[in-house]
Amino acid sequence: MIPVCEPILDGKELEYVTDCVKTTWISSNGKYIPLFEEKFAEFCQTKYGVACNNGTTAIHLALESLGIGKGDEVIIPTFTMIATCNAVIYSGAKPVLVDSEMETWNMDPEVIEEKITPKTKAILVVHTYGHPVDMDPILEIAKKHNLFVIEDAAEAHGGEYKGKRCGSLGDVGCFSFYSNKIITTGEGGMVVTNNEEYAGKARLLRNHAFSKPRFIHHELGYNYRITNIQAAIGLAQMEQAEYLVNRRIENAKKYNSLLKDVEGVTIPPEKDWAKNVYWMYSILIEDEFGLSKDEMMEKLKEKGVDTRSFFYGMHQQPIFKNGNDERFPDCTGLYPVADEFSQKGLYLPSSGKLTNKEIETVVATIKSLKG
Ligand SMILES: Cc1ncc(COP(=O)(O)O)c(C=O)c1O
Repeated sequence: MIPVCEPILDGKELEYVTDCVKTTWISSNGKYIPLFEEKFAEFCQTKYGVACNNGTTAIHLALESLGIGKGDEVIIPTFTMIATCNAVIYSGAKPVLVDSEMETWNMDPEVIEEKITPKTKAILVVHTYGHPVDMDPILEIAKKHNLFVIEDAAEAHGGEYKGKRCGSLGDVGCFSFYSNKIITTGEGGMVVTNNEEYAGKARLLRNHAFSKPRFIHHELGYNYRITNIQAAIGLAQMEQAEYLVNRRIENAKKYNSLLKDVEGVTIPPEKDWAKNVYWMYSILIEDEFGLSKDEMMEKLKEKGVDTRSFFYGMHQQPIFKNGNDERFPDCTGLYPVADEFSQKGLYLPSSGKLTNKEIETVVATIKSLKG
């Protein structure tokens, strides 16, 4: 089976993890945490990095650092991984859903303004599958309505919008380091920002909001700490970060060259202002292909090629549609672009480890299924 993703751990990961064990610095203090934070913030072209235990908590910390909570609304794309939506709910705010655009597969800037109310506090964009969001119109809307901009860059390490790194484009950026991410720590996350106050708040909240004297707490904090062991892996990953990003891009170039003329397959977008990092090489299966997405996934699996479906919109989630909680998003309304993605989209094996030969095998298998 050609897997969808496997991490590359052939740098100094083992050496640094071994160091943690030998020195007994295995918990959430230790030298690797600030080193990883510093390197990752630098990679994102931001001043501050606050590491935490996953990408979901990074978003939660970002929201709370900006003072967003009960009674507020946050605009998000309906087409995203559920963690984006859940983190808003955890903060006490209510997610407000926006459809995507075909051009970039991201949140459609054109439909944001009609969703803004006096309660709206932020626009939370998601750089889906590694393609940056068209930020200028969104930053303009945010400025006009005095809103924060938060980036969920969980899938876009190293991605760029007009030469600027994803994560550095809004007020706060959030990353995941889950094992299928371009840079991984197994589990892990990071909040990046140029704002000292937001970074300080995120740092405080991730560690139970300990203050002075210790065990006196003025705020509701969390245990969202990363461990020194995870950060050790992260630091080793940062030593080859550009290579890890480039491997995904090289995979995509190879896939694009082999798939671009296959009738019924739509290859992923890359706008001229974008550096798409192709976290997962994603395609749409059109009617002309002669098989549905689900049939295609099943047949590929039988032939040893693992794939994953695209996300299903938040407006389609049973928990939100049927649940009775004032923080849940309003799921009425139409989201035709998101629905089309869910119906047609899948991603192919996308590891940095993938060989050209494996890519050729995947594409030959797809072509052999064509009706
Ligand atoms: C867009 C997006 N946001 C948030 C997350 C949550 O990250 P984690 O799984 O590290 O909590 C993920 C992925 O896993 C994601 O793809």
